[in-house]
Amino acid sequence: MTKYVIRGGKQLHGTVDISGAKNAAVAILPAALLVDGVCRIENIPQISDVSLILNILQELGADVRTVNRTTVDIDCSHIRNVQVPDVLARKIRASYYLVGALLGRFGSAEVALPGGCDFGGRPIDQHIKGLASMGADVDVVGGIIKAKAISERLQGNTIYMDIVSVGATMNIMLSAVLAQGSTIIENAAKEPHIVDLANFLNSMGASIMGAGTDVIKIRGVEKLSGGSYSIIPDQIEAGTYMAAVTATGGEVLVRNVIPKHLECITAKLIEMGAEVEELGDKVLVRRTAPLRRTNVKTLPYPGFPTDMQPQVAACLCMAQGTSILTEGVWDNRYRYVDEFRRMGARIQVDGKVAVIEGVEQLTGANVEACDLRAGAALIIAGLAAHGITEISQVQHIERGYEDIVQKLDKLGADIRVVISPDEGKAAQAG
Ligand code: EPU
Repeated sequence: MTKYVIRGGKQLHGTVDISGAKNAAVAILPAALLVDGVCRIENIPQISDVSLILNILQELGADVRTVNRTTVDIDCSHIRNVQVPDVLARKIRASYYLVGALLGRFGSAEVALPGGCDFGGRPIDQHIKGLASMGADVDVVGGIIKAKAISERLQGNTIYMDIVSVGATMNIMLSAVLAQGSTIIENAAKEPHIVDLANFLNSMGASIMGAGTDVIKIRGVEKLSGGSYSIIPDQIEAGTYMAAVTATGGEVLVRNVIPKHLECITAKLIEMGAEVEELGDKVLVRRTAPLRRTNVKTLPYPGFPTDMQPQVAACLCMAQGTSILTEGVWDNRYRYVDEFRRMGARIQVDGKVAVIEGVEQLTGANVEACDLRAGAALIIAGLAAHGITEISQVQHIERGYEDIVQKLDKLGADIRVVISPDEGKAAQAG
């Protein structure tokens, strides 16, 4: 078993470079299926969710060539297989984008119901509603989403989303770019990765307008051709390092960011006592004053991101006073609270609300990362705590954070990876 072992109590100082955005990459890589030609995709994060999608594309028959550490060339000209291997699709949430992309290009797709972090129910009814209204038969049979266009091409339509959904908005965009006629998505999600996917598709010849607003218009085109595109920096990875320095104190220059995307996070960190200075594509974050309480409610963009909720909770556990955290996106995103309590945090959860009474000092403990952002939050808590924290189940963290241990080590954190002897032997043997 791999663990992260952290000796807490050190301030963070230095510079950290933010990688490409996970939630943009996991949509843009499947979008390559729509392109007839080679697309070069740059600034890809080195994380396990991305490796999995690249594996899936190869299994489907794509030619995937690594150009350098963060760039791949993908050629999907010769794909004929529309059945995504189950074992791969189940491991990630983003496998649902393969449904929209395969259906949009080939008129048919078979993809296992997606996996990903467990936040209670994660329905996909809005994806199905959108695809069906464009003329696809969509059934879930034996855990597999089977989608087939009734006529040769999907037909554009106006689709009102009953709930603001990142995944459904992107999935409908993917299926609509090659459809006949125009598609209008109303009550669309507005996250930066929605705009990034639209920019990628437009750079390959699609016609998408309004991404980043709540009405997106897609005029179907005959074909997308190759080109090159660079993925935006990861808003949540940047926010995680900003929260880490807010928790530990110190001063960190966070490079390769789009400060506009961070405003919703910055505002809250400032309320908590951090100072944040925007410097072009960098932000300088420092905390010297005591950590202060605040209230946070997560909402779709441009609200405070749910994917930063556990990390900000880690800071609030050590703030002066009592804070109220309200989860406005997921039904159950507090599974990590028991792990925080092991470290001495005082948190009461009632449904979507958590009341956090700040304590002067957290103490190191053995804890388990139950999902990706919860894992990042435990790292933050461990960095600020007194004593040693051992975090297990770190594969969740590696799904979404490139080189997190190395990046924190460079900032002066005392963090290391420990692989149990058995696993080490197995790795050597095989
Ligand atoms: N929802 C429905 N029906 C649907 C789709 C969603 O009721 O058909 C509900 C969900 O249950 C949830 C809300 O709508 O209550 C929002 O879900 P959304 O569809 O926006 O989430 P998602 O697309 O499955 C993405 C990110 C998540 C992030 C959410 C919200 C990816 C791969 N995942 O999930 O990221 O929390 O948007 O911003 O892009 C993470 O990176 O740690 C992560 C979990």
